[in-house]
Amino acid sequence: MNNGVKLRSADWFGRKDKLGFVHRSWMRTEGFSTSVFQGKPVIGICNSWSELTNCNAHLRQVADAVKRGVWAAGGFPLEFPTISLGEPFMRPSTMMFRNLMAMDVEESIRANPIDGVVLLCGCDKTTPAQLMGAISVDVPAIMVTGGPMLNGVWRNREIGSGTDVWHFWDELRAGRISDEEFCEIESCLSRSAGHCMTMGTASTMTSIVEALGMTLTGCASVPAADSRRYVVAEQSGTRIVEMVREDLRPTKILTRQAMENAISVDMAIGGSTNAIIHFLAFAGRLGMELPMSLFDEISRRTPFLVNVRPSGKYLMEDFFYAGGLPAVMKEMESLLHLDALTATGKTIGENIASAQCYNREVIRSFSNPLKPQGGTVILYGNLCPNGSVLKTSAASEKLMQHTGRAVVFEDHEDLKGRLDDPSLDVDETCVLVLKNGGPVGAPGMPEWGNLPIPAKLYKRGVEDMVRISDARMSGTSYGTVVLHIAPESALGGSLAIVQNGDLIQLDTANRKLNLLVSDEEIERRLAAWEKPVRHYDRGYGKLFLEHILQANEGCDFDFLKWVPEPDKLEGSERSKARRATHKLPLPF
Ligand code: FES
Repeated sequence: MNNGVKLRSADWFGRKDKLGFVHRSWMRTEGFSTSVFQGKPVIGICNSWSELTNCNAHLRQVADAVKRGVWAAGGFPLEFPTISLGEPFMRPSTMMFRNLMAMDVEESIRANPIDGVVLLCGCDKTTPAQLMGAISVDVPAIMVTGGPMLNGVWRNREIGSGTDVWHFWDELRAGRISDEEFCEIESCLSRSAGHCMTMGTASTMTSIVEALGMTLTGCASVPAADSRRYVVAEQSGTRIVEMVREDLRPTKILTRQAMENAISVDMAIGGSTNAIIHFLAFAGRLGMELPMSLFDEISRRTPFLVNVRPSGKYLMEDFFYAGGLPAVMKEMESLLHLDALTATGKTIGENIASAQCYNREVIRSFSNPLKPQGGTVILYGNLCPNGSVLKTSAASEKLMQHTGRAVVFEDHEDLKGRLDDPSLDVDETCVLVLKNGGPVGAPGMPEWGNLPIPAKLYKRGVEDMVRISDARMSGTSYGTVVLHIAPESALGGSLAIVQNGDLIQLDTANRKLNLLVSDEEIERRLAAWEKPVRHYDRGYGKLFLEHILQANEGCDFDFLKWVPEPDKLEGSERSKARRATHKLPLPF
């Protein structure tokens, strides 16, 4: 019945000893007879539902649909919570807690009688956190994303999460809309359950996990409020039971080919810059080499196809009606490894074979892209020897090659205090520089990177300037914004010693970001530089500061990367090695 696969849960519910008695007896407290859970695949439904994570607040209903599918396929569903990461509320940043959630997911699965798991996610960090945990524990897993919100509509004009918030905030600061209008927009933006409906980090990451093969086909694009969201959830419940019987684990799906497919898709959709960090974290968990240069290489050969904000015009509801992610992948299939295996049990090529595009304005054809190259480039130079990131699809063409005078903010407080000061010595040719926004410096690498345009310039019609930092930016943001500078300023990266008036050169064509100051002067300033005071001396914050890796290594904790033993294990050998780590001591 289980295809000869030995169930993990049998070591809990199938035992003939005192422990077996305890496990079965205690399970009965929930009103289940042994016939429904003994000998059947136990499917954990890992739910990031929380009323503090508005984007995931409908996931209890989604879990109910998953359960229907699990029961129908002969499995036994058990829903369990983990911490959740609500992007708008958490301080200093959800990025600070992504690894904590990943650890929670990993250990909750490993410690319990779970044969396979359905991961329910949506808001930005909940998706990568769950996948990181699932990779590390490596039991069969499928993801069900919560789906984007319906389009926002204000006075018959479509408005999108994040992107239009930043736009209207600037309009308010410039005196072009009133407080009353701003307030009215607030009530029109978020009109249904679901995550942000722009191609922000949430939609990017849900698209990426689909491209990786970790969801059913088409899962990412269905709006949260659409009844088909619940059909996908039910089918995923059915499918995970089969995956347990096939022993189809994340490490069998997440091959090098799958990663390359998903990076290509990220470039074609104009995905969030945050995705680069999460990809690097996945690779670390998989024990896979994924150099930053690969992103640039793939970007150069991938056309940008998806006309969705912030890089385009439309919103995720339009994207779904246009055919969603399968239509994009069909369009770019010549760039994909079509034989990559997915959670459906079929290859990517089989999954997208019949996909169609229904709106060429929203999803462009391969031969008529929005731009000939992908949405994100990797820059190097004396300001970022370990790399930095620029989302060219959301940047201004005229600023791609630019040299300007630095206007420096030492940290976010300094920025808030002086940016709109009418006496700030700044014009539109300057480069705005923010320090101490990185993983250690902020801490938690908040989304401070798209520094607002100084009010006095915005009022004059300046809508974009070159901005650089070691912070991240919201996936819904836009502008010529260089991010993720590594090493970060708080660790003595050269960003730390930039001074007002220094010249900074952005040379996107050659993928360079340089401080036009001599090496000797940089050395002299670094020798005089003083380390900032650390933010935490206890608890999770201390653990975070002591173990967080830099952006070019995925900002995971150093002790969570997977180093295969023995070296260079491949394919199913890799899976077996991980399973050996499942042997845990018994509680009594
Ligand atoms: Fe949750 Fe944007 S705030 S996805």
